[in-house]
Amino acid sequence: MNKHLLSIHDVSAPDIVRVLDTAESFREVGTRIIKKVPALRGRTVVNLFYENSTRTRISFELAAKRLSADVINFTTSGTSVSKGESLKDTALTLQAMGADAIVIRHSSSGSPLTLTRWVRGSVLNAGDGTHEHPTQALLDLYTMRDRLGRIEGLRVAIVGDVMHSRVARSLSFALAKMGAETTLVGPPTLIPPDATAWGVQVSHDLESVLPKLDVCYLLRVQKERQRQQYFPSVREYARLFGLTRERVTMLPESALVMHPGPMNRGVEIDSDVADLPRSVIEEQVTNGIAVRMSLLYLLLAGSAPEGGVTDA
Ligand code: CP
Repeated sequence: MNKHLLSIHDVSAPDIVRVLDTAESFREVGTRIIKKVPALRGRTVVNLFYENSTRTRISFELAAKRLSADVINFTTSGTSVSKGESLKDTALTLQAMGADAIVIRHSSSGSPLTLTRWVRGSVLNAGDGTHEHPTQALLDLYTMRDRLGRIEGLRVAIVGDVMHSRVARSLSFALAKMGAETTLVGPPTLIPPDATAWGVQVSHDLESVLPKLDVCYLLRVQKERQRQQYFPSVREYARLFGLTRERVTMLPESALVMHPGPMNRGVEIDSDVADLPRSVIEEQVTNGIAVRMSLLYLLLAGSAPEGGVTDA
């Protein structure tokens, strides 16, 4: 494993299998009465979130705490960022306090890479702009393997606002690495022109794709990242690309419905469809803790703590 996880390009297919297998062993910890192991005792993990998050931030916090690490949650409100402190000075401050790992979410693509130039610890990308969200892709692969028994050969559609989705980029790269067949589905305005270079196919007709799938993975329509009108109306989008009650019946019986959250119920997914047994959206969240435990463990446990003291 590399020291940092900035992109799915940082992990090979055998690395991915190792992350998923290690997550499998950590999943059991979450079922115990005392959900803790001492693997990262004495290590410090900083969650540096410049953008809103529910799932990723809480999941990284729980993962680090379950490994017995010390956890610092840093958000822009209530800190010197609101007084104008730069990312560099914030990073150097965290470095001076002995952070062994920094988990960063930022609206600017490339911020995690920039951070690696200023800190000695590991940097984990928790979502940067429209670039990547590699830990989301890894927890998605874990969920697919757990439910369907394999990743290689799975037929997966990633449906919706691919253009603005860091999840779609990371997941497409990860699925290609693991030998799955991915189709990106959406209006032409929301599929990047270079998408076929990601090792995927492209379709603009959801209903023709649904009967062939093992996984239908829906993306949130990201109004906050769209700088122009990419489709006539939300109603029109839902009519053509939403997974409705009628459309979900076109999927094979064994096919899963997935979504990274947060969902726009009634837009990309009907509310009833989100609550079907085949929708594994809550399982994705639960599995995210084990996968992030695995990543923190694999990135940190083999390295000396920041400051060099090894005794507890
Ligand atoms: N899937 C995801 O990244 O969700 P959050 O924005 O809530 O972290």
